[in-house]
Amino acid sequence: MSVIEVSIDQIEPNAWNPNVMSDEEYEKLKTSIEVTEGRYLKDNPLLVRTVNDHYEIIDGEHRHKVAGDLGYKTLWCRVSELDEEEAIELCVILNKDRGAINYFKLSKLLSTFYKPYSKALNQEHLGLRFGYAQNSISQIIPIFERLQMYLYIDTFSNFQLVQLARVSNEALRTLLVEKMVEKPLASTTLQKTATKLNSITKYIEEEIADERIRTIVLDKLVSLGPSILGYDLSALKNEVKKFFNEEQKKRIIHGDMFDEIEKLDTMFDCIFTDPPYNISYENLVKLEGRKDFDSDKGEWDHFTPEEYLEFTRNWVKNAVSVLKPGGSMVIFTSDNYLSHLIDILIDNGLKKRTTLIWKKDNPAPATVQTNFVSSYEFIIYASKGQQKTFNWLGQNEMHNVISSPVVSAGNYGHPTQKPVKLIEKILKSVTDVGDMVLDPFAGTGSTAVACEELVRGWVMIEKEEEYYEIMQRRLLK
Ligand SMILES: C[S@@+](CC[C@H](N)C(=O)[O-])C[C@H]1O[C@@H](n2cnc3c(N)ncnc32)[C@H](O)[C@@H]1O
Repeated sequence: MSVIEVSIDQIEPNAWNPNVMSDEEYEKLKTSIEVTEGRYLKDNPLLVRTVNDHYEIIDGEHRHKVAGDLGYKTLWCRVSELDEEEAIELCVILNKDRGAINYFKLSKLLSTFYKPYSKALNQEHLGLRFGYAQNSISQIIPIFERLQMYLYIDTFSNFQLVQLARVSNEALRTLLVEKMVEKPLASTTLQKTATKLNSITKYIEEEIADERIRTIVLDKLVSLGPSILGYDLSALKNEVKKFFNEEQKKRIIHGDMFDEIEKLDTMFDCIFTDPPYNISYENLVKLEGRKDFDSDKGEWDHFTPEEYLEFTRNWVKNAVSVLKPGGSMVIFTSDNYLSHLIDILIDNGLKKRTTLIWKKDNPAPATVQTNFVSSYEFIIYASKGQQKTFNWLGQNEMHNVISSPVVSAGNYGHPTQKPVKLIEKILKSVTDVGDMVLDPFAGTGSTAVACEELVRGWVMIEKEEEYYEIMQRRLLK
């Protein structure tokens, strides 16, 4: 490789050298050049390559800078034929053990220029290529990707960059970066804080399976602000538990209420529900010379009368076990089992308060015209002992016959879906803001929609996948 003398104006530093020169290094270099009257520069030529109409420095950026400041017009250069990738590699290797390396720039270089690394090479390969141990590479690599969005990154040391980039969760990392900008933490505190934030992130990931709740809990934790950086891990875990419990209150459960109720750790202010009426069993009508008339609502509504009474006794007992003293119970039913249901409620220690009638403004027309059109349903209202909540809404609002249209075809996803406004009207009287409501036969979640409107907490249980999914779409949008 020949050495030639090149005009200093034709030489340019490269854009990716991560090496930084300290003031002390600058002074030392200046002294070396001055005491040797420039001989130092001739004995240590720059390493360059030709790029378009200039020479790009591969090695010697600091000599170039100091010589320029001292007024040199030419510099001795060794010209190589390396392509860009080879030049970058050599530049990093030569600078690695000299002076300081800016880890942010190095990380940018490693991750931007060496994209193929992620596909074809592992960190060990990348380390070997640049002369870094694999553990250094694994610390340096995330820096650019995780910290590039913070404008003030220049102010951080390599150690601080490594610690900040270790924090895997973006929201918690931002909190820590902001704290460091405002008032930097000492090295060991910073290191411990980064470890703690990763531990709490791992804890949240392990403990909270539902991604939606996980995000909400994390947002709530972050909203407490930089003060949480001073909490110890157990205090952070307590906050997470608290937020999780708060959020868990609103829950859609896919399962059988007989299994799920006993797993609940909440007591409810109200059970508001619309259980199977067992009308499918009766409604298979054999018609002489015509196709059977069948208003079957689904498998979930198939019981013999004895099975149905047994089923009703069991579900009421389960539901009452999670109803707070003074809590209210509201149950849709038909006339077929009305008196049985009232007896069962009384057997379970409830006090029947009234039977409301939902008068349907627009009942479904009768298909078989051999009886009156069915245009009402019953709603039993009971309480566990003396009712703790009853909001009187005015004489005209409190009639126990309530008129309301049925859910119009096309708007429903369930054959027996109940109108949200009707549910709201009753819920408003028997619960307060913030009360918890359980619907163990939730269908498409109409009770929860009403609760959302009235700011009540809720837990919905539904066993049929089809309705559970409709409910999820309705409530989690
Ligand atoms: C009358 S529907 C409720 C409709 C609901 N009110 C609405 O507006 O969408 C009764 C629901 O209870 C569900 N169900 C029946 N037995 C159940 C059980 N053991 N556990 C949970 N859900 C059950 C049925 O799948 C059905 O969707």
